Amino acid sequence: MPRPASIVNPPGLTTNQAPFIEQAQAQGEIFIHQPYELYSEKNHDAWRRLFARMKPRWERYANRHYLEGIHALGLEPLHVPKLSEVNKFLCPLTGFQAKAVSGYIPAFLFFDCLRNRSFPTTITIRPAGKLDYLPEPDIFHDVAGHVPMHTDKAFAETLVRFGECAHTAAKLVAGIRDEAEQVHRLTSIIRAMARFFWFTVEFGLMRSPDGLRAYGSGLLSSFGEIEHAVISPDVQRYPIQLEWAINQAFEIDHYQPLLFIVDSFDHLFGLVDELERWLRDGKLNNVAPGEPAVNERDLKSFLRA
Ligand SMILES: [Fe+2]
Repeated sequence: MPRPASIVNPPGLTTNQAPFIEQAQAQGEIFIHQPYELYSEKNHDAWRRLFARMKPRWERYANRHYLEGIHALGLEPLHVPKLSEVNKFLCPLTGFQAKAVSGYIPAFLFFDCLRNRSFPTTITIRPAGKLDYLPEPDIFHDVAGHVPMHTDKAFAETLVRFGECAHTAAKLVAGIRDEAEQVHRLTSIIRAMARFFWFTVEFGLMRSPDGLRAYGSGLLSSFGEIEHAVISPDVQRYPIQLEWAINQAFEIDHYQPLLFIVDSFDHLFGLVDELERWLRDGKLNNVAPGEPAVNERDLKSFLRA
C-alpha cells in the first residue's frame, strides 16, 4: 500500500511554520510530545549543517563540562535528535530530562520545571536559510546548547536551586496585601531572576586553565557569537558580581557587548544561594528598570503558584 503523502513528505517542524505547533498553542497545550515523523528532510538538513559547523567551535571555545556532555549524550550529528533517546543518556546522570513544549512558557512554570529536573525544550528547528540567528529558541539552541550542560552534576544542582528561588519568590509575594506593591515587587524580582539567568545560563563565560570558555547556551548554540564572546576586543568581560548582573539590562537582538565570568559551577551555585538570600532580604525588590519586560503571563504564573 502506498504511504500517505504526509509521511512521504512530512510538513516539517520549522520554527514559526509548523501547523502541529500552531494547533497545540491554539488548544492551550504547553507540554506536548515530539511527533518525530513530522520532521522534514530540510529540518534534518538544518540540524546536520548547524551541528557540523559548530563542532570545531565547541572544541575551541566551549567549556570542558559541555564537551563531556556532548560525548555522554552521544548527540546525533546527522538528524534532529529524539528527546526520548537524549533522555535515556541524560536521566541516569543527573535526573534531568528534556521535556517537549509548544513554545513560550510562563516564567514560574519554567523555573518550576527546573526544580523538578525537567527542561522545557522547543521541538521546532530554524529554517535552513536562517542558520545564524533566530530570536526564538529552537531545538538546536535547547538540545545542542542547553542539554549537554545538564549532564554535569554541579550545573544541574545549580538549575534546581534556581527553580527553588522561584518558589521562595512566589511565597514571599503571596504575603503582600497591597496589590500594586505586590505587582511592583514581583516584576522587579522576575526581572532580577531573568537577568541573572541570562548572564549565566544563557551567556556565561567560565575561567579555565586555557583561558575563557563559554558555558552559556546562547553562546554554545551560536556559530558567530561563541567566537566573538571569547576573543573579540569589542566585548567587555568582567568577573561576575551579583549586584551588577541583576541590575544590568540586556537586549536579545545583537551580540552581547557585556559578559560575566564565573570561576566554576560551585561558584555559580554559591551565587544562586546568595540570590535567594537577597530575595528574602528584599534586595531584589527594586532592581534597575529596563529590559527584560515582564509580561502579564509571567506575573500571573507566580501569583497563582
Ligand atoms: Fe536558552
